[in-house]
Amino acid sequence: MPGPILIFDSGVGGLSVVAELRRQLPGAALAYACDNAMLPYGTRPDAWLVSRILSVCEAAVATSGCSALVVACNTASTLALDALRAHLSVPVVGTVPAIKPAARLSRTRHIGLLATSATVMRPYTERLIREFANDCRVERVAADGLVVQAEQLLAGEPVDERALRAALAPLWEAPTLDTVVLGCTHFPLLRSRLAAAAPRPVTLVDSSAAIARRTGQVVGDLAPRRGADASLATAPDARLARALARFHFAEPRLLMLG
Ligand code: DGL
Repeated sequence: MPGPILIFDSGVGGLSVVAELRRQLPGAALAYACDNAMLPYGTRPDAWLVSRILSVCEAAVATSGCSALVVACNTASTLALDALRAHLSVPVVGTVPAIKPAARLSRTRHIGLLATSATVMRPYTERLIREFANDCRVERVAADGLVVQAEQLLAGEPVDERALRAALAPLWEAPTLDTVVLGCTHFPLLRSRLAAAAPRPVTLVDSSAAIARRTGQVVGDLAPRRGADASLATAPDARLARALARFHFAEPRLLMLG
């Protein structure tokens, strides 16, 4: 009997990928794991992050008995995908900023990358831009504050519209920019708020549909869903439980690290 597909993120951001997985693979059992004790990842040093991500994912894979791991976090994927693949015995699907589709969509050849401080600086991101958006101008905007706002929204708490507008403001200094990559999985959860806060229409692009498609290709036999799916967290609490319940996950259990 195959295990569920495990989705991992620092916090609730991976739920934007879950939404697509539920849409594309409606009958599949999923499990969710997050390292909310250490949220946010996007402002932490690389060496610390690699070893933390390895130990959390190793524990979550073993506890969930999953058949595949989806790293639904750009900050983790752009840093630790190779290390995860080397350490884990299950297939690993990563999430990286949607630079390629954005470059395809932009008419003005001027795009924005909205992501965490870590992701905007990474050599992996640099390579994506060189490879797929070589003829585009790319404005990189670190927007770590949006991670907190997405966590609040999913916990049913008010979103600070001023913080949203402040995070987006650097993008509007580029008048010809027409496409924005949501390069952090938390950000699509705020999509309608971000669109409403934009002073002019831009195309918002994220990777979740492509990740769900890729996951469907990678996973052979799918474990069937039976009621609420399991979830694990390094700091389970009522706020997180509320967010996970919206996506049909049972109350989170404490993830014990080895
Ligand atoms: N959701 C994560 C991402 O895609 C990171 C959020 C954080 O900084 O923890 O990058």
